Amino acid sequence: MKNPLRKQILVTGGAGFIGSHLCERLLADGHDVICLDNFFTGNKDNIAHLMANPHFELMRHDITFPLYIEVDEIYNLACPASPIHYQFDPVQTTKTSVHGAINMLGLAKRVKARIFQASTSEVYGDPQVHPQPETYFGHVNPIGPRSCYDEGKRCAETLFFDYHRQHGLSIKVARIFNTYGPRMHPNDGRVVSNFIVQALKGEPITIYGDGNQSRSFCYIDDLVEGFVRLMNSPDPVTGPVNLGNPGEFTMLELAQRVLEMTGSKSELVFRPLPTDDPRQRRPDITVAKKELGWEPGINLGQGLEKTIAYFAGVLHCSEGL
Ligand SMILES: NC(=O)c1ccc[n+]([C@@H]2O[C@H](COP(=O)([O-])OP(=O)(O)OC[C@H]3O[C@@H](n4cnc5c(N)ncnc54)[C@H](O)[C@@H]3O)[C@@H](O)[C@H]2O)c1
Repeated sequence: MKNPLRKQILVTGGAGFIGSHLCERLLADGHDVICLDNFFTGNKDNIAHLMANPHFELMRHDITFPLYIEVDEIYNLACPASPIHYQFDPVQTTKTSVHGAINMLGLAKRVKARIFQASTSEVYGDPQVHPQPETYFGHVNPIGPRSCYDEGKRCAETLFFDYHRQHGLSIKVARIFNTYGPRMHPNDGRVVSNFIVQALKGEPITIYGDGNQSRSFCYIDDLVEGFVRLMNSPDPVTGPVNLGNPGEFTMLELAQRVLEMTGSKSELVFRPLPTDDPRQRRPDITVAKKELGWEPGINLGQGLEKTIAYFAGVLHCSEGL
């Protein structure tokens, strides 16, 4: 007989950075996990250590196509997340967010599953309100090179709330702010992995603009805890809920921390700021604290230490040392 506490959980984008950590956590919590991925940016190495677990199943599938399986919960994470990757095929990025959301919501409706959406702080665009509360509607360019991602995620949120209002679906929408940690893609242009890899290789550290633009960085374990709490929250809680670390650092401060912690002698080089790059980004996490009792517990120094150790290992292997 099926253990009622053991849920069947689908994680789309499960072979990616965040997805692989989430799969690990859900297995540790005693669930059956179906990890779905088309391997556009995800990697089998991220989940190789889970393959022998009889409660883990890997499925190659693209969420822009319908899916018919039986599950209790769906975490919808499938979508390239870094500008280099989501701008590679912008039409496919929008399709993944919009058609993907329709397909996963359709599945949730059919099997009466609860469904979670990995939305993003990019729905706030280049914000005129700082820090950003969930009530802020955003300041987004609908026709720029980042729009395939920003507007795709905004439309996905619209779909989630319409399925909730129209069909009574149980939805949970998280707006994720910059997250970092082991298994980030080493060359996808995201700032934490970029700085660490450049510092470890002794290459110049690339700073876009004057380096005074700020970001906040959440360590992966804190984020995954927020995901699980949101998914398990009672039904009146739908989100959107900001999940991120409110500690704010400029790019220059981050570069300095990475240089100190790696002991690298890399110099800083300055390049022009990309189009529509936001000046400031910091989550207001009042709602997450109140509704989920959640706030990040891992500070930048602790998170960087684990992430640097991971990338040092990856570079060591790739150099065949
Ligand atoms: N990492 C962050 O800081 C961050 C911030 C905000 C939002 N998010 C969101 O979190 C989710 C996961 O991000 P991540 O950082 O792990 O990125 P990632 O690129 O490592 O993971 C995304 C995964 O989705 C898969 N994928 C892409 N398109 C697909 C498709 N059509 N069908 C099936 N699989 C597909 C990729 O192969 C990959 O494994 C994304 O939805 C992203 O938008 C991440």
